[in-house]
Amino acid sequence: MCGIVGYIGTRTAYPILIKGLQRLEYRGYDSAGIALMDNGNASLYKCKGKVRDLENLVSGQNIAGTIGIGHTRWATHGLPNDVNAHPHKSMNGKFILVHNGIIENYASIKKMLTKNGYKFQSETDTEVLVNLIENIYLEEKVSAETAVQTALRMVVGAYGIVVICLDEPDKLIASRKSSPLVIGCGEGEYFLASDATPITEYTDRVLYLNDEEIAVVSTNGISLKNLNNEAKELVISRLNLSIESFDKGNFPHYMLKEIHEQSTTIADSFRGRINNDMTQIMLGGINEVIPRIAKAKRIVIVACGTSYHAGLVGEYLFETFARQQVEVEYASEFRYRDPIIEEDDVVIAISQSGETADTLAAIRMAKEKGALILGICNVVGSSIARETHAGVYTHAGPEIGVASTKAFTAQVIILTMMAYLIGKRRGFISDETYHSLIEQVLEIPDKIKEILKDEDHIKEISQKYVEATNAIYLGRGFLYPVALEGALKLKEISYIHAEGYPAAEMKHGPIALIDDKMPVFVLGTKDKYYEKIVSNIQEVKARKGKVIAVVTQGDTTIKHLADDVIEIPEIDESLSPILSVIPLQLISYYIAVMRGCNVDQPRNLAKSVTVE
Ligand code: AGP
Ligand code: GLU
Repeated sequence: MCGIVGYIGTRTAYPILIKGLQRLEYRGYDSAGIALMDNGNASLYKCKGKVRDLENLVSGQNIAGTIGIGHTRWATHGLPNDVNAHPHKSMNGKFILVHNGIIENYASIKKMLTKNGYKFQSETDTEVLVNLIENIYLEEKVSAETAVQTALRMVVGAYGIVVICLDEPDKLIASRKSSPLVIGCGEGEYFLASDATPITEYTDRVLYLNDEEIAVVSTNGISLKNLNNEAKELVISRLNLSIESFDKGNFPHYMLKEIHEQSTTIADSFRGRINNDMTQIMLGGINEVIPRIAKAKRIVIVACGTSYHAGLVGEYLFETFARQQVEVEYASEFRYRDPIIEEDDVVIAISQSGETADTLAAIRMAKEKGALILGICNVVGSSIARETHAGVYTHAGPEIGVASTKAFTAQVIILTMMAYLIGKRRGFISDETYHSLIEQVLEIPDKIKEILKDEDHIKEISQKYVEATNAIYLGRGFLYPVALEGALKLKEISYIHAEGYPAAEMKHGPIALIDDKMPVFVLGTKDKYYEKIVSNIQEVKARKGKVIAVVTQGDTTIKHLADDVIEIPEIDESLSPILSVIPLQLISYYIAVMRGCNVDQPRNLAKSVTVE
């Protein structure tokens, strides 16, 4: 995970690096550091804690230098402490490096280097890499670039690195494999970062490094090669990100801002994809492969975390509307299970960041087996987006809060439109139904606004459950994945143990947990399961559990049974996940805030999980 930045140009590097690290802090935030080069001399500052702590450390010290690198860490090897923080310097002081990823064979390399007399300060795999580069550089008397190439050919694992060589202080050397790295190209200056967010205010011209490419960047330009020293073509892309999307605006947290943005982001997701008379859905990114998707015997959805929950909604959608067989898999399990993938299967990877290592590995494997690979990603130009055959961007804008909210509803709306579109093509949806469903998609933004008007009431409800130590979430059909998502939101930001279940499963075990202290969040909107859900609520109440129910406006039955109800506008059941998840997001947010938790950067987590 972690965020890396680099700058080379004519301006003072320090403020650019710090700002970049702040933008990337969502990726990791247990320690931070920077190295600055001024006339061939390096200053290195690093410490445990956030970028703010790094700023305090650096305050009053020498920050001169127009070249520099920085890192905000999510520890994989070694505790988050000052010594393990990046950048890491090689033993003889020739190289300084920041690294995102894991060097899997670090132990054997370390052994070899130890034999060569190397001593290590930290417990990280990264320090092994920087010393390996130095060892090759000194022993083989090669250029810094060649030393990095040689070292990287020996490495097993994932890396995004930016390297400074003290003997060649006018350049930065950058490379990646499985961890992302982007280079922003200004006029005589270059901005390196794990994603484009730190770059966007300086330039919209970017170079996305591909796996095992190495870039040597100086104020004169970029030279791009592979690890075998063969030249590679520089492909410059245009960024389309606005700086405002990185601000919290008037909200105290990114998460609350992102929850509120959903009325707009949903509209951004379907904008330009529905025709004026509401008779057609057009998904340009997959247009050419629609016949193949429609013919697929099986659709396999791979994803992690919240994106996996969106995938589960996708399963209900595709089965209901397109009558296709769907399997939803945790990407991490899928990739190691030697799954059966046929050439006429379609694999859909869902990922907000587009960088999740497990999801990326899963699609690479499925690609080798000949399946058509589609992506539903939020980050434009991300690795998954680039490695799929076709795909649809969610257009939810940068999601900074570690807990995913607006990306989830955007993923679900895209899956919904895909399922409607394929269902129509396969002849399972009539013109009339299609039109009515599309009409209801267009009504979602206003309905979200209506739900958000109830925020004070939702906040009051949250107050009652601040002291809870456990919680259960129940839903059926389209709303079962929402129960899972509600539980994930609560546990990841408030650290309350929570589980989501299909409501009918409760009686097969979880019911034993219910007592007068157990909050049970029930998704009880009017759909074909309504009567069953009412019975499930009765079962909870009979055991004195506290029921907080999300119901359809005007519901009276559940209102009489539940301790608290939150009403949401009526909508087709296939679209109800998008509306019903919003109160759950707000409840998790308020409970976490009231418990004094850091909602935007919950402990132990990181936004983009680029390690296995
Ligand atoms: C969601 O709140 C999480 N923090 C996490 O589960 C996330 O959804 C997961 O890591 C997948 O990320 P991706 O969508 O960027 O692939
Ligand atoms: N493996 C390295 C470490 O533990 C880098 C982790 C990261 O990507 O932040 O320090």
